[in-house]
Amino acid sequence: MGEGRVIAVAGAKGGVGKTTTAINLGVSLAQTGQTVAVVELDLAMANIIDFLQFEPDRTLHDVLSGTAPTTEALYPIDDRMHVLPSGTELAGFNAINVAALAPVIRSLRPAYDFVLLDTAAGVSPETIYPLRLADEVLIVSTPRVAAIRDAKKTIELANRVNGEVMGAVFVRAGSGRAPPPERLATFLETDLVGVVPEDGTVAAAQDMSEPVCLFDPDSPAATAYQEIADSLVLTGAASEADETSDADDDTVLGMGGVADLQNAEKIVKNAADADPDGMNGATKPLDGNELSTGDPDDNGFEFVKRKGE
Ligand SMILES: Nc1ncnc2c1ncn2[C@@H]1O[C@H](COP(=O)(O)OP(=O)(O)OP(=O)(O)O)[C@@H](O)[C@H]1O
Ligand SMILES: [Mg+2]
Repeated sequence: MGEGRVIAVAGAKGGVGKTTTAINLGVSLAQTGQTVAVVELDLAMANIIDFLQFEPDRTLHDVLSGTAPTTEALYPIDDRMHVLPSGTELAGFNAINVAALAPVIRSLRPAYDFVLLDTAAGVSPETIYPLRLADEVLIVSTPRVAAIRDAKKTIELANRVNGEVMGAVFVRAGSGRAPPPERLATFLETDLVGVVPEDGTVAAAQDMSEPVCLFDPDSPAATAYQEIADSLVLTGAASEADETSDADDDTVLGMGGVADLQNAEKIVKNAADADPDGMNGATKPLDGNELSTGDPDDNGFEFVKRKGE
C-alpha cells in the first residue's frame, strides 16, 4: 500500500452536510475495497458519535493531550473503515493541542488508503489548519446562497494556506430554486465532484445512528455517495500515474507544526478585520448581485431574489 490520501471535508457554513459526507464517503470508499479513517476535527462541537453506534472511551482529545496513542482512539465502523472521534466535552484546547494534529494525521497516512478529515463550521485556526494539513480539500455546500457564499470563503482560505481544492460536492441538491450544480461550481471556480440529492432517507438513517450508505444502499443519497467514492478512487489512480511531474509538492503541503498554526491564526485575524460580519459562518443579508458570475446577462442567482424584486 502506498501513502494514503488525506482529504479535508470542509465548508464554513454550519449544517451543510460535512459530517454526513465524510462518513458516507468513508463507508462507500470502504465498500470499493479502500481502507479509510474518518477523523473528526470538530474539536469544540463534536457530534460524529451521534451519527454512528459506538461509545468511545478514548477520543482525539486524549490523543492530542498525549494521554492515549492514536490506535486506541480508532473505532471500526465497517470492515475497512475506522473513525477517530473528538471528545464531546468542551475542553479548553490551546494552540499546541491543535498543532499536535499534524503528527497524528501523518501517522495515519501510511496506514490507510484514505484519511478523511471532518472539519468544523466557521473560520478559526481549527478549521483553517486542516485545509493545509490535507493533500486535497473537498468543499461541501448546499445549493443555498448563504452556504455557497461561505464555501467561496473556504476556498479563498484554502488558497491562502496553499491548500489544494479538488472541487465541490453539493448536498441536498434539487431543493428550492437553486441554479444547477454545474453553475454553482463555475461560480466557485472549482470542479464539480458530485451531487447528493435532498433525500429523507438521510435523516431516517441518522435517527437510527447509521450511515445512509449502510442503512439503505439503494437510496438516492447512498447511490450518489457511491458514485463520488468511485470518482475519488479514479482520480487518485490518474494522479498517481503522473506523480513524477509534481513530486516536489510534498515539500510545501502537509508539514504542519506550530508555525503553520500561527499562520492560520494570523489569517483568521486578517479575515475578521477585513470582513467583520462575514467570516464566522454568519449570514449577511442576501444580495443576489453580489454573487453574480460576472456574465453581462447575469444579475446573480435568481433564487436569492426577494419579494417585489
Ligand atoms: N442529502 C441530504 N438530504 C437531506 N438531509 C440531509 C442530506 N445531507 C445532510 N442532511 C441533513 O443535514 C443536517 C446537517 O448535516 P451534517 O451534520 O452532516 O452537517 P455539517 O456540515 O457536518 O454540520 P456542522 O457544520 O454543524 O458540523 C443533518 O440533519 C442531515 O441529516
Ligand atoms: Mg459536522
